[in-house]
Amino acid sequence: MLAKVFLALCQIPVFRRLVWKPIYNYLAKMELRDWSFMNYGYEPLDGRPKLQLLPKDEEERYAAQLYHYLAINTEIKDKDVLEVGSGRGGGASHIKRYLHPKTMVGMDLAQNAVDLSNKKHQVDGLKYIQGNAEKLPFEANSFDVIINVESCHAYGSMTNFLSEVHRVLRPNGIFLCTDMRLKHKISIWEEELNASGLKMLDIKTINDNVVKAIELDHDRKMKRIESDEFSEKIKKAFGEFAGIRGSKIHLDFASGERIYKWYKMQK
Ligand SMILES: C[S@@+](CC[C@H](N)C(=O)[O-])C[C@H]1O[C@@H](n2cnc3c(N)ncnc32)[C@H](O)[C@@H]1O
Repeated sequence: MLAKVFLALCQIPVFRRLVWKPIYNYLAKMELRDWSFMNYGYEPLDGRPKLQLLPKDEEERYAAQLYHYLAINTEIKDKDVLEVGSGRGGGASHIKRYLHPKTMVGMDLAQNAVDLSNKKHQVDGLKYIQGNAEKLPFEANSFDVIINVESCHAYGSMTNFLSEVHRVLRPNGIFLCTDMRLKHKISIWEEELNASGLKMLDIKTINDNVVKAIELDHDRKMKRIESDEFSEKIKKAFGEFAGIRGSKIHLDFASGERIYKWYKMQK
């Protein structure tokens, strides 16, 4: 019930601006071992060979795969790449270590998340800074690629964000965006994207991939939620937030009530 009310309130821009920052700041304060991502994950369903990961990256395979497969068909090597909404830093670290951009900047609204990321992910050419997606702290024409993973649903204004993406991307630069919306909000999201001045190159609906990842990752998440790291009070709420099997978010993706998309656009 609480999850339903919260998700409904999140449809209001002012509410989104007010609530997400303290929530993500709070989550970043929790020094959870091995927890470097905050997305629902992705599992390829086309029979391709299993992505080879270092043993230390196996724990969060599905969340890392969301980044990997979003970015894999874009020229990243030796480019300057920005991630907006980098959370606990695992995605930017994955991109830097596996796809080898020249520089990688992870930016997040939550200062705790930025501090945690800088402490946890120390890789040459990778840094994390604090900033707001609606007012990017960069000069015009600074990046070849901008990545945005499961973050823009929390922004007060998608239009402000897109205008900033357009400003800081170099000519021909690529914008990769993946996130979710209620099904009746998809047309608004796509109108915003189409009005951004960026050219749409590719659109995919990835609900089946996300549902599969949630199912495959269920036991690992449950083990963590059942562990001592969480008080009884927040276990249930966290199960909903983390997206375990049977959570509202899982059922919404499975039924198509909530749609998970990815977009590739070019300046
Ligand atoms: C669900 S988490 C996803 C984090 C990361 N992309 C991942 O997949 O692990 C969403 C992130 O977006 C960040 N965020 C929300 N609003 C933001 C804004 N206006 N500017 C920058 N980051 C924002 C939050 O602080 C949070 O870290």
